Amino acid sequence: MLIPRLLRAGAWMVKELSKDSYSCVSRTGCTSQQWRPLFSLQSESKVFQGSIFQKYLHFSTTAANDAGDEGSEQKDMISVTFVDKDGEEKNIKVPVGMSMLEAAHENDIELEGACEGSLACSTCHVIVMDVEQYNKLEDPTDEENDMLDLAFGLTEMSRLGCQIIARPELDGIRLAIPAATRNFAVDGYVPKPH
Ligand code: FES
Repeated sequence: MLIPRLLRAGAWMVKELSKDSYSCVSRTGCTSQQWRPLFSLQSESKVFQGSIFQKYLHFSTTAANDAGDEGSEQKDMISVTFVDKDGEEKNIKVPVGMSMLEAAHENDIELEGACEGSLACSTCHVIVMDVEQYNKLEDPTDEENDMLDLAFGLTEMSRLGCQIIARPELDGIRLAIPAATRNFAVDGYVPKPH
């Protein structure tokens, strides 16, 4: 007895609520088709608000990411200019952390590197063209100095290209490639023991 009565009362309440709570959103007046039960309108407006939120959330996230990517890209690359023996300049972008020898090889710049960066030759000899940039470099290790002693055309600002690692403060560095290199392994030069 009680359950059918409760069901009937519930059905009546739903019917009354939907009958009285009609609404319409229009700037020019509502036609009969535009009047909707309030319940339905609220649901739709929630969906609408959700889609706007998603749209702008997506937009702002994308914009922030783009700016961030651009910023980090600029920060993580430095500009390096190699000047070859004929005075021809080639400017390249080098990722932070990469050696000048690797950067030269990736960009088809003729800088030897007979021992592939293992400090067993002097064929990656470069001359830093600007004293300020030279002073920003870490001091050469004894091993690097030993190899530099064998380099052809050694100068005060000579370094081994495989030992210069791109860092943000080296942005704009200019490196001259000497006219010749000396590879004792190939040229038959035997270094004297110290
Ligand atoms: Fe041999 Fe740099 S490539 S020391």
